[in-house]
Amino acid sequence: MFLDKLTKLLNDAFRPKPKYITVTPVTGSGPAQALPSANEPPANLPAHVAIIMDGNGRWATSRGLPRSAGHAAGTEALRDIIRASDDWGIEALSLYAFSTENWSRSKEEVQALMGLLLKYFNSEIDELDEKHVKITILGDVDGMPEPQRTALIDAMERTKDNTGLKLNIALNYGGRAELTRAARLLAEQVKAGELEPEDIDEELFGEQLYTAGSPDVDLLIRTSGELRTSNFLPWQLVYAEMVFDDCYWPDFDRAHYLKCLRTYAARDRRFGGVKASAPEAKPEAEAETEPAIKPETEPATDRNNEEAEP
Ligand code: IPE
Ligand code: IPE
Ligand code: MG
Repeated sequence: MFLDKLTKLLNDAFRPKPKYITVTPVTGSGPAQALPSANEPPANLPAHVAIIMDGNGRWATSRGLPRSAGHAAGTEALRDIIRASDDWGIEALSLYAFSTENWSRSKEEVQALMGLLLKYFNSEIDELDEKHVKITILGDVDGMPEPQRTALIDAMERTKDNTGLKLNIALNYGGRAELTRAARLLAEQVKAGELEPEDIDEELFGEQLYTAGSPDVDLLIRTSGELRTSNFLPWQLVYAEMVFDDCYWPDFDRAHYLKCLRTYAARDRRFGGVKASAPEAKPEAEAETEPAIKPETEPATDRNNEEAEP
């Protein structure tokens, strides 16, 4: 009796915990689906997630705090979202941290942001490198002040051969500036006789961008309720799914991130084509999907007559 109880206890203790709970849907006639548990991301994850981390200032002022306190709190959220992306196996994560337009803010706010940036890199670089994270700065690093510029260049150099999460941090970044720079780089190659204008295609253009080596963005998340892209990754976002979360960035945590990933997983991405899982076409439906303009060679009247017959 005692031995039986002990064996059961040991069996229960060492039984591997299931990662996903399998449930039979209550409605619908499809097969049983595997639903992720509350803390697990969905199966079809985006390869590249881009985030516009917005609302630090409003988070702070709504608490009677200076805007810089919002930026400091935002750094904490950032830490965990990077860890979660790494834990869940996201291939690339691009974070909008400071735009070319953000220089127009007060001297105090810009200084606070630059101070936090340095503090962040100094405190995180060892752990990120240990996790094989590859850091790329999107933006004009040479336009950054010292000692931030050196810290950014060192981080890129130190992690350049890492094969884990591609962590792209947009600093002193502007989408139009990135596209203009790419055009200039190509023009210089043409001028030097290394390239013919007709050799310039989308692939080659994409290789001149800061994000060369990362896939196109699949999912764009913006916090704080704003519904715009604010000069972020115009080339890379062309077919991105966009998910907007009303919370301010410092409140964005793994639960919010999971919700965005689930929203993404439920989207139907068509890339200009037709839905892959369209129901089988019935004869009547076939007629409806015919092109409006028919080839001239087609005997249109005969076909119409055929369709009219039972
Ligand atoms: C995003 O938060 C951080 C940066 C732009 C650096 P904001 O500072 O824009 O916060 P809000 O939008 O003013 O609340
Ligand atoms: C975009 O947020 C830039 C970053 C999050 C770094 P902003 O707060 O600068 O954008 P707008 O001014 O609301 O468009
Ligand atoms: Mg803002």
